[in-house]
Amino acid sequence: MDLQSFHRESIEDREGFWAEQANLIHWHKPFERVLDYSNPPFTRWFVGGETNLCYNAIDRHLASQADKPALIYVSTETGEERTYSFAQLHQEVMSMAAIMLEQGVGRGDRVLLYMPMIPEAVFAMYACARIGAIHSVVFGGFASHSLASRIDDATPRMIVSADAGSRAGKVVPYKHLLDEAIELAGNKPQKVLMVDRGLAPMRRIHGRDLDYAQLRDRHRQAQVPVTWLESNEISYTLYTSGTTGKPKGVQRDVGGYAVALAASMKHIYCGNPGETYFSSSDIGWVVGHSYIVYGPLLAGMATIVYEGTPVRPDAGILWKLVEQYKVTVMFSAPTAIRVLKKQDPAYLSAHDTSSLRALFLAGEPLDEPTARWISEGLGRPIIDNYWQTETGWPILTVAHGVEKTPTRLGSPGMPMYGYDVRLLHEQTGEEVGANEKGVVAIVPPLPPGCMQTVWGDDKRFVDTYFSSIPGRMVYSTFDWGVRDDDGYYFILGRTDDVINVAGHRLGTREIEESISSHAAVAECAVVGVADQLKGQVAVAFAVLKDPAPYEASQTRLALEGEVMKVVDQQLGAIARPARVHFVTLLPKTRSGKVLRRAIQALCERRDPGDLTTIEDPSALEQVRAALAG
Ligand code: PRX
Repeated sequence: MDLQSFHRESIEDREGFWAEQANLIHWHKPFERVLDYSNPPFTRWFVGGETNLCYNAIDRHLASQADKPALIYVSTETGEERTYSFAQLHQEVMSMAAIMLEQGVGRGDRVLLYMPMIPEAVFAMYACARIGAIHSVVFGGFASHSLASRIDDATPRMIVSADAGSRAGKVVPYKHLLDEAIELAGNKPQKVLMVDRGLAPMRRIHGRDLDYAQLRDRHRQAQVPVTWLESNEISYTLYTSGTTGKPKGVQRDVGGYAVALAASMKHIYCGNPGETYFSSSDIGWVVGHSYIVYGPLLAGMATIVYEGTPVRPDAGILWKLVEQYKVTVMFSAPTAIRVLKKQDPAYLSAHDTSSLRALFLAGEPLDEPTARWISEGLGRPIIDNYWQTETGWPILTVAHGVEKTPTRLGSPGMPMYGYDVRLLHEQTGEEVGANEKGVVAIVPPLPPGCMQTVWGDDKRFVDTYFSSIPGRMVYSTFDWGVRDDDGYYFILGRTDDVINVAGHRLGTREIEESISSHAAVAECAVVGVADQLKGQVAVAFAVLKDPAPYEASQTRLALEGEVMKVVDQQLGAIARPARVHFVTLLPKTRSGKVLRRAIQALCERRDPGDLTTIEDPSALEQVRAALAG
């Protein structure tokens, strides 16, 4: 079947289409209804059906491939390399589940994970899935304030963490950040399960902190049966940034997610049982959830959990792993490829990558030069795919499991089955024509696998995602896009205050709040500025309460360093602005709204556009002067 007909069928006969896809997973109890859309925009898939993500990803494969690799752990940071078969992974997950159960974690309880890329993180996610607990993984690169706000929102019964991560050969201790975050949080977890990697010393809190190795020993042979969950129970929440300073807990179901991932593994990623999948993402991001942890194993593939960078010990490490483990499907981010582009291209051909059927790239725009460089250097197909934390799997790409549609440089492709994608005029809500810029929107119901709601805040779900386009209840992606005459889409950047730094999604508002917490700062504006390597970097403009003490350039420079340190400590190094400029006035409209787009344009040496609403034009002059200085 061609992709267009496949797509049309998925929209015209949603129930028939998804009922068929649902056969890709095991149902303990069959569903009664495929789709319940009686309370728009809330969508319930496979109502009444009972299943379990852990069962489908692990137990189901025990009969045919118990001794085949399931989880391949490679750390170029510590030199560890270990393979767990499906049977071994099954046991590790049951032991972890037994530890959780013993500590009183049950169905519907939240377990927050603050973990580096180690197998125990995957055990903990699957242990939650097995017993019906809701995991909430917080990226290990976040610092105490970010962590505290997520603890407060998720109110976890238990936190699972480790002594440290390691990045580019440097140990990054976690425990003091975790202790600080728990100190800051209003809701304190009762138990903290610590994996001690022996990388950094830890202060233990008696009665609260538990030692994983000790407990695992005790539960080494634990048998923990699967808890069958109704399809619409919650599998996890994952926090993501938006326009406000408060991150949203993207909430996902069980059955819809399992079906969506299994279908994507078949139609989009084309992975087969017994093969190896390698995603260089992190479990703290949605790509890690969908395509390190759950997707590959649902398809009966082995998954590589990689702790390390793309350039250590040398820039050939990713391809070395492809060769060594005969990886057939690989997933990475454009930013990783741009890092490699600065290295000797000989690394691309130093290893045999012929096992690779395709390299998928996502998370940020894939610029044409980078796409061309990697596709020519590697000689393997490169497939761009566009999606979001909210959707859990691709919105736009090509589906070579359905039809070998050619890819087009600079375009992530076409709408995937299940997504009724439209390009709408920002103000009128009308559909725009080919080659016209519009907001990428999805007409609900959203397909299986997409977010159910914002954790604990249904109103915010509706207000944020379904209320931004006038007169139409459609899901906004908050991305600009354009479609060419042949139906290929191109993504042109965000319509809101979200920025993308090296594939990491950050809210400028969060960074602004952090900078404003510095005693000398009165107010500030943060914008994302185009960067050759990282895609975007954050640049800040701050107004000081009293500029007098900071007149000398030396003291200003010191203050800039101090402000950056505040962001480092509160949010983590990834959120640190590349520059903090000091001005006495921010460009604002007469109603007091900061003109971020104008500031951003100046930073990128573009025309700032329509400035008729500006209150004081001299504010823009200050931005110009700061940039020139
Ligand atoms: O702006 C789009 C950009 O990343 C945003 C979603 O980021 P996140 O929630 O972290 O999910 C990443 C899942 C891959 C989008 O709103 N984005 C993601 N993929 C692409 C992209 N922009 C252009 N091309 C892409 N392929």
